[in-house]
Amino acid sequence: MTENAPKVLIATEKPFSADAKDAVVKRLEDAGLRVEVLEKYPNEAALLSAIADAQAVIVRSDDINAGVLAAGKALKLVVRAGAGYDNVDCAAAKAKDIAVMNTPGQNSNAVAELAFGMMIYAARGGFDGKSGTELRGKTLGIHALGNVGMNVLRLAKGFEMEVSAFDPFVDAKVIEATGAKPVQSVEALYKSCQYVSLHIPNTPVTKSSIGEKLLMFMPKGGTLVNTARKEVIDEAGLLAAMKGRSDLQYLTDIGPSEPTEAALKTDFAKRFFMTPKKMGAQTEEANFNAGLAAANQIIGFLQRGERVYIVN
Ligand code: 3PG
Repeated sequence: MTENAPKVLIATEKPFSADAKDAVVKRLEDAGLRVEVLEKYPNEAALLSAIADAQAVIVRSDDINAGVLAAGKALKLVVRAGAGYDNVDCAAAKAKDIAVMNTPGQNSNAVAELAFGMMIYAARGGFDGKSGTELRGKTLGIHALGNVGMNVLRLAKGFEMEVSAFDPFVDAKVIEATGAKPVQSVEALYKSCQYVSLHIPNTPVTKSSIGEKLLMFMPKGGTLVNTARKEVIDEAGLLAAMKGRSDLQYLTDIGPSEPTEAALKTDFAKRFFMTPKKMGAQTEEANFNAGLAAANQIIGFLQRGERVYIVN
């Protein structure tokens, strides 16, 4: 590899596991690319400087705004090693002729497993030693049946849960074929399911779309599991529902804004759980899968002009 080889930046404020990162670096270097790794960077300035001469960048939930893209003077491709790319300003990238890709499906089992981890934790009273409940036989609503939703469905079958699903982009017949019961509306999903697992993306349409009205529909013991995005929650509505119903629970790996988090922890400590850091996709396996997929997509794009998984 020469010093003139195209540079790929791996910019992950929340790093991959060390082994996964090494494997990603090796894959890129074996293909003749130059690699710089920028992990746990303290501020945007570090990213702006590292991206300046990169032709491609691998990121996770890092904020790839118009300013960051403008700093990437040689940038041709941003690969979000993961599913949701709401952290990348896709329009600004398009305007600069920078392609944006994601790596769909690569971390979805990890996210689905965490959803069940949190459900069991809550069903067993936070492991407080008192008599809890089981997941078997309970109703589970999967709100959006993409890659993560499908993995949640697969695991729910093992737990012998009664699974319904709602997804406006998936035909009822297709949902039926998966083994989940299709419901006609989002309201019907929340009305019929004790557990609802959220897998909708953060878009202008879904933003703040889950709030008091839907939560108040839930049957006794209603439990919302959010491993999707904090932005899809109407936080005032969530607080109102938690106040209005002493049986509701909210479990998430992406904490709400600070005032809402403080209110939930103070007023509803037994019914609210959040992981200290966003960690649905934070497994060795998901890091390998998403990181290597990102590396392969970069090699394909830069060396063979492959454009699969471009989202802008
Ligand atoms: C995704 O959209 O793929 C997940 O939210 C994972 O995000 P992360 O890479 O920041 O853990």
